[in-house]
Amino acid sequence: MAPHRAGGAERPDAPAWILAGRAFLRGRLQPVEIAIGEDGRIQSIGRSRTGAPRHDVGEAVILPAATDVHVHFREPGPDPRTENLATGTLQAAYGGVGLVGEMPNTEPPVTDVPRLEAKAARVRGRAAVDVLLYASPSDPTARGRLAERAGGFKVYLSPTTGIPSVPDPTELPGLLRELAGLDLPVAVHAEDPAEFTVPEHLVGPREWDLARPPSAEAAALERLASAPAGLRLHVAHVTTAAGADRLRRAGVSFEATPHHLLLSERTGTDARFKVNPPLRSEQERAALWSRFCDGTVPLLASDHAPHSASAKDGEFARAPSGMPGVETMLPLLLARVRAGDLPLPTLLAAACDRPARWLGQAHGRIAPGHRANLLVVDFRARTPVAAARLHAPCGWTAFEGWEAIFPREHYRDGRAIVRHGEFEGRLEGEVVRPEFARRPEARPPRSAE
Ligand code: NCD
Ligand code: ZN
Repeated sequence: MAPHRAGGAERPDAPAWILAGRAFLRGRLQPVEIAIGEDGRIQSIGRSRTGAPRHDVGEAVILPAATDVHVHFREPGPDPRTENLATGTLQAAYGGVGLVGEMPNTEPPVTDVPRLEAKAARVRGRAAVDVLLYASPSDPTARGRLAERAGGFKVYLSPTTGIPSVPDPTELPGLLRELAGLDLPVAVHAEDPAEFTVPEHLVGPREWDLARPPSAEAAALERLASAPAGLRLHVAHVTTAAGADRLRRAGVSFEATPHHLLLSERTGTDARFKVNPPLRSEQERAALWSRFCDGTVPLLASDHAPHSASAKDGEFARAPSGMPGVETMLPLLLARVRAGDLPLPTLLAAACDRPARWLGQAHGRIAPGHRANLLVVDFRARTPVAAARLHAPCGWTAFEGWEAIFPREHYRDGRAIVRHGEFEGRLEGEVVRPEFARRPEARPPRSAE
């Protein structure tokens, strides 16, 4: 290889700059120099003798940016002050999440191409990070065209915020077969409403767990067991160790959320702790956490679902389900790594590598050719989570006071979007689709029909 000349920016293959620090590579944390090209991709990893500018972060650790496959940014929606695509992606940037999978249960829901395109137009020029848009396959006549434009499909097996009706049990196998043919990622909210009960006194998370019990998850997973092999299936927010073990055995992708991993029905009593599926018993939470630490749970996702503080301040029975989480997801778990509870490579696989792969994206690992979507983390910088310091307009978090480690720097395509813990103000996040997704077909000329 020819030696690099100093100041070789005119050479097309010369790196634009070098990020030096420590990274977890080949099984251990070691000093690295990451050469980043003008195109925002990682060129090489290792010692580089180049005159390109160097940014040395010393003892801090360089990580791939995370991907959160499950967020609700509520746009379009009735209350853009509680959340919107700009505020949601900004929280993602601060939380070290470089790509979000945005769910279709907006108002109106994303059920056809015009709504999908209207939502995509709202991302442009306002998003701090990249956004993949899921569509709902509820309109049979729109599915085929949606498959050429959307980033994925989301199927709800039970009613939840903004989704009052769900596929009939007899329709589900046919729907899954059709979706398998469309070849996009398909995320499923797996609770079977046939198992739901209406408790007499719905006063807190304990009763919510009884109302939507673990057996609802088990029954929904049973319904999914006949999904065709070609379906790119992913089960959202699994809450039980039995569910995790079952899906692992079946080789199906699934996620666990920070709230189901860290909080139980005993953590809090008010409606901030009301979420679908519900928080479970402390014993179940601990069992799920052990499945996360041993790598049985393949993905981490936040299910960021903010509701206004006033909606959550009210009576538990009437309050909406869901809690914010995109900004705190990675920081909470980085603190568990620092505490020695969770291996760093297990977290990186679940938060960065596997979710990016599932959505067909070239990032999530520190590897040549991947986008330089990177974080710099100082593991000594532990801080308690405080709603007042987060960037969520809803103004509350269920993790108040929990220890967290927020990334100090966040790069998108090799350009800083967060530095010294502050957002730098470029709103260049784009709508992305899986690399394997089919492209819009040129319509055949009429004479050919
Ligand atoms: C979500 C929401 O509010 O959009 N709520 C929730 O409790 N998780 C919807 C959902 O994912 O069920
Ligand atoms: Zn959700």
